[in-house]
Amino acid sequence: MSYFSFAIGIGAQNKKGEWLDVYYQQPLLNPSDALIKAVAGVAGHTGGNEAITLAKGQLADLAAALSNAGESAQAELASKLQNTEQPVVVTFIESDEAPASVPECYLKLHLLTHRLVLPHGTNLTGLFGLLPNVAWTSEGAIAIDELADRQLAARMKGGVLEVSAVDKFPKMTNYFVPATTRIADTDRVRLGAHMGDNTTVMHEGFINFNAGTLGASMIEGRISAGVVVGKGSDLGGGCSTMGTLSGGGNIVISVGEESLIGANAGLGIPLGDRCIIESGLYITAGTKIMLLDDSNQDVEIVKGRDLASVADLIFRRNSLTGRVEAKTNKTAIQLNEALHANN
Ligand SMILES: CC(C)(COP(=O)(O)OP(=O)(O)OC[C@H]1O[C@@H](n2cnc3c(N)ncnc32)[C@H](O)[C@@H]1OP(=O)(O)O)[C@@H](O)C(=O)NCCC(=O)NCCS
Repeated sequence: MSYFSFAIGIGAQNKKGEWLDVYYQQPLLNPSDALIKAVAGVAGHTGGNEAITLAKGQLADLAAALSNAGESAQAELASKLQNTEQPVVVTFIESDEAPASVPECYLKLHLLTHRLVLPHGTNLTGLFGLLPNVAWTSEGAIAIDELADRQLAARMKGGVLEVSAVDKFPKMTNYFVPATTRIADTDRVRLGAHMGDNTTVMHEGFINFNAGTLGASMIEGRISAGVVVGKGSDLGGGCSTMGTLSGGGNIVISVGEESLIGANAGLGIPLGDRCIIESGLYITAGTKIMLLDDSNQDVEIVKGRDLASVADLIFRRNSLTGRVEAKTNKTAIQLNEALHANN
């Protein structure tokens, strides 16, 4: 019995008892068989992907069973949760199939943010449709149709219920802050973002779910859903990477290592290693691009998609002709074969 993931969560439900969000302090990838057996015994789990809400009285049993299984950190968490009035859930994901419940969706988003899986490393099919739209407030997640009463209740106590967002995804930092990261405006990173070591997101930067960086990066532009930025690459102020959620795009956009997307530029192809896109230039799969040799002579016209993942290129829009051009990035060590094939 080898499980994909497991976690003990605490969250908010609406008045109908439907989950709005779940916080997992210690999500696990590939939990031990002993742990699964211990929790399954207490929760009545018999296999498959399942989220089981525990009764308050079950938490002491859960803590004892986990402790007996040698899972001291999880046992301690279960023990602490004995004192809450909020709903507590144990979420089992035996196999990495499309999520079927809100607790499963949240566990998968946590796996990404905790760097336990890479973007595209877990099946998120249908996740967007499963997540409820929620008011994220100073009193936690509130169902939209219950918001007006909660606002009135806050006013009657002389306060204001602060609604910071109305969205399917909450901000990442209310669930987890990955080590060695810096985030200037926490509203701009959604739960499910994957931030590599030493990644900084400045105010203009944004990271969607199932997307992010693999190592050190300075992010001052938008990392759309599904986009992965390689180690050492930077996104300049206000730049855009194309997502695949809308607009019919089905190429997964990525940025290689040690590349730069200039300020206000845009990327609609997978970009190779050590590439630069001039500030203000948007490269799409269909953009017609003149390849130049080292003496700036024309070589051939190609489309953006032909240069997908090709390393060591500078893309620029010729300021005299308006034509988009690509040439070898001289600062790169390797010369690009595509550019020299016709020399
Ligand atoms: C594309 C870019 C990398 C080119 O920079 P570079 O390689 O240093 O090029 P230079 O500015 O030294 O220019 C080299 C030559 O190309 C010319 N040139 C540069 N860009 C050109 C353009 N778009 N069209 C025509 N000629 C151009 C220069 O005039 C210069 O010509 P010269 O040899 O006659 O003097 C740079 O303009 C750029 O956009 N960098 C992105 C920076 C950025 O946005 N960072 C993020 C900040 S938040």
